[in-house]
Amino acid sequence: MRTYMFQVPPRIIFGNGVVAQAGREAARFGRRALVVTGKNSSARTGSLDAVCASLQEADVAPIVFAQVESDPSVQTVQAGAELARKEQCDVIVGLGGGSPLDAAKGISLLLTHPGQLADYTTKPAENQGMPIISIPTTAGTASEITRFTVITDTERQIKMSLQGPALIPSVALLDPQLTLTMPGHVTAATGMDALTHAVEAYISKLATPMSDLHALEAIRLIGANLIKAVDSPDNLEARGAMLLGQMHAGIAFSNSSVALVHAMSRPMGALFGIPHGHANAMLLPLVMDFNRSAVPERYRDIAQALGEKVQDLSLRDAAKTTVLSIEELFEETGLEQHLSAFGVQDKDIERMARDAVETAVSAFNPRKPDLESVSAMYRALL
Ligand SMILES: [Fe+2]
Repeated sequence: MRTYMFQVPPRIIFGNGVVAQAGREAARFGRRALVVTGKNSSARTGSLDAVCASLQEADVAPIVFAQVESDPSVQTVQAGAELARKEQCDVIVGLGGGSPLDAAKGISLLLTHPGQLADYTTKPAENQGMPIISIPTTAGTASEITRFTVITDTERQIKMSLQGPALIPSVALLDPQLTLTMPGHVTAATGMDALTHAVEAYISKLATPMSDLHALEAIRLIGANLIKAVDSPDNLEARGAMLLGQMHAGIAFSNSSVALVHAMSRPMGALFGIPHGHANAMLLPLVMDFNRSAVPERYRDIAQALGEKVQDLSLRDAAKTTVLSIEELFEETGLEQHLSAFGVQDKDIERMARDAVETAVSAFNPRKPDLESVSAMYRALL
């Protein structure tokens, strides 16, 4: 039996209205909180006001850093860390989608570790980080509970993936009400990203019995609620199930890994600006078909979690049903299905395929990808 480790934040608080607990949680760590958020949306939707009010009520001074762009840069993270130092902050509150939560992690890392952010692409961040309270307003990346962050090096034009136990937030506050304002296409793309996390964690070579539990629960919740949340944005029950589902998916991949879909979506984002979740959504059915013969038993489990009746089918047919089910789900989201709509041309495919095959997570894919098969999958999406 393989040995493994399993890590989650020490405190996960889930439920409608739990954003009001931000102050009480922050007060456990000190009296000054750096609130890291995006440039507009949290102020527009009122979630920033709710967090600041809760902090003030608990006698914690909020220092707002509302400078985080989509795909946060090294410079933004450095600016946030400088402000935290100058204002002598004791705790960081990350509020928003994946980008502000990732920036909060980068800031914590810079404040508590020697060297540059780039140093932690090759070694884990292991020192005690500055405590982070993470409050997501989208349901997809699960940055609020994972040990990963993605920071963009704008000079070298690369997205750096940093990881380590120091990046796991101290508290994750998951409030479904904060996700009600997510637009339909964001709900669809981030939801498909979460489904990809769960599927890849489950079929990854690094899957463990504990990550499996979370992966299957995530697939069950997302499969039953994604389209409901896209079609009925005010359906709080579906929103809650999606927030919980993406969290389970995050716990699964943070303790197992992602695989070929994430390797292939990287160049789509870096070279053509295709949003991460949307890129994964386009790739997931194709890559699942590619992996189908490698782990058919796992595919049957996934089909069952999606509510498909596969008990009377052969393993081979059950695995085919899984792929069809995911394909249908993607079609129902209404997301654009073709790479050409994002400006990708046939001449770009070789470069993208090379990048994908060389990406580290490709090694955890259950079937070894080669340039030819990866190129063929990109080409099928043109
Ligand atoms: Fe992802």
